[in-house]
Amino acid sequence: MSAFDRLVAAGRELPDLSGVDWGALPARYKRYPRQGVRLPYPPRRTRTELGRLGDLLFSVNGLSRLLWLTDADLTLHHGTPSITGSTTPSIAVPGTGGHGDALVETARPIPSAGARYPVELYVCSGPEVPGLPPGVYHYDPPRHALDAVRAGESRTEVNRALGAGDGPVPELIVLLTTVFWRTAAKYGAFAHRLLGLDAGVAAEQMLQAAARHGLPATLHTTLSVERVDRILGLNAFAESTVAAVTCGRSVPPSTAPLSRPVTAVSPETSIVGLDHLADLAEVHAACMRAAPPPPEPPVREPWGPGSQPHALTPHPLPNAEQPPDAEPSPNAALLTRRSTLSGYSPTAITPADLARVLRSLHPGSWVQHLILIHRVTGLPTGSYRYDATTHTLLRIGPRPDLLPTVPPLLRKEYGEAAAVLVPVGDYAGGGELGHRLLTLETGRQLQRAALAAAAARLACRIHCDFPGPTLLAWMGVDTSSLDTLALMTLGVPPRRSVPADLCFSPALE
Ligand SMILES: Cc1cc2nc3c(=O)[nH]c(=O)nc-3n(C[C@H](O)[C@H](O)[C@H](O)COP(=O)(O)O)c2cc1C
Repeated sequence: MSAFDRLVAAGRELPDLSGVDWGALPARYKRYPRQGVRLPYPPRRTRTELGRLGDLLFSVNGLSRLLWLTDADLTLHHGTPSITGSTTPSIAVPGTGGHGDALVETARPIPSAGARYPVELYVCSGPEVPGLPPGVYHYDPPRHALDAVRAGESRTEVNRALGAGDGPVPELIVLLTTVFWRTAAKYGAFAHRLLGLDAGVAAEQMLQAAARHGLPATLHTTLSVERVDRILGLNAFAESTVAAVTCGRSVPPSTAPLSRPVTAVSPETSIVGLDHLADLAEVHAACMRAAPPPPEPPVREPWGPGSQPHALTPHPLPNAEQPPDAEPSPNAALLTRRSTLSGYSPTAITPADLARVLRSLHPGSWVQHLILIHRVTGLPTGSYRYDATTHTLLRIGPRPDLLPTVPPLLRKEYGEAAAVLVPVGDYAGGGELGHRLLTLETGRQLQRAALAAAAARLACRIHCDFPGPTLLAWMGVDTSSLDTLALMTLGVPPRRSVPADLCFSPALE
């Protein structure tokens, strides 16, 4: 069995968290010496070019809210009211008469597996943004600042690494990296799958935040990783580039010479030499060597055995858009989206609400979507396939009553949710780089669905803590060359006696 096969197999199992040393998890922030530029705050209230850039970065990685986990939440999430060794502060919760403590955590606009936030953002700029000298900068979420990594013009070199050749450069290039150990310290080899999903979530949020500012933006997922890592001064086995977003107009590059990279104050741990992550290191090395990109692996149509499309009953979904003022726009949802903490109110949603979430997806040949319908007015309970071209649901089988062995939180959500989204694809078909691109694309789709759900005032939560092959088999789907890539429960937000989280400042809403 190759390292890649072993990682794919690990990604199909439930992650084992029994040996996690909660007190020893690595920091979720990277720090550089404080030389650079403070970004205007609060980000939503600024009108300058620099403020706009700050808002773009804040919308992805900013410390936008405080998350309150009560004893009841912790029991539901971890099976115990306290996480042994956790270094996160615990405070008394107002409104509980002193009876309840809460674990308080900083949280960000984007969801992240285990709230590990492995994605770091770097900006390559020229002279176009007033107040920001040409250079490479790291976004520091706690200080909402750009720390200088290199001075000078980097965009020509980065552009070449993106395969764009010489000539004009984009006004800004935002590079997205993932820090392996940050997620792998908790999830081991299972992190391979999560890192790609997290990167896809962040990339999608970046694109949507750019659209909010009317900034043209393009995502690049195939690039010379080695060259970009070198430009950023990274140890490629501790932190490595996964994607780039080029923003703004094409402009002539400046002539400012590029200085040597600054060393981070908090260097990240390399996974080389960590025995249990040897496969992750080997697969990452293979990804870096893999170019040009592999062809998109075709995804088999996920019909149940013996069911052919013509034999399935189509359920067309409504197309009507809601009146524009009836609900927050997906733009507003960029900062208000959050994962449900305590399941759902077991109430039906309308087909129009479900349609809005499904419309946000753009399934291609990489990712297809199965949907488990539980409480959607007028739709029979069951497992469906979503056909994006006709915006139709096709019923392929029954909905399993229960999920196979899953943690209590997911069991509760599954019982109360109105619907469950199950993106499927072929993990192994595209090789090392294909797997990375597939997980990235899945992360993008999940984030689109999460933003659409928030805009429709629905709650949701992404999950990877379930045995995918068993779920597909229970749905009556033939599992050869087909994997569940993640799962998203979706439903009506529950009522809570204690606030689940708070925005740092009303100005951020
Ligand atoms: C790729 C990915 C996988 C996730 N997997 C799980 C999971 O298996 N179980 C779970 O309860 N939450 C899961 N989550 C949700 C995170 O725990 C949640 O995003 C994080 O705690 C931050 O909270 P927020 O989404 O409210 O900002 C996942 C999120 C992402 C992006």
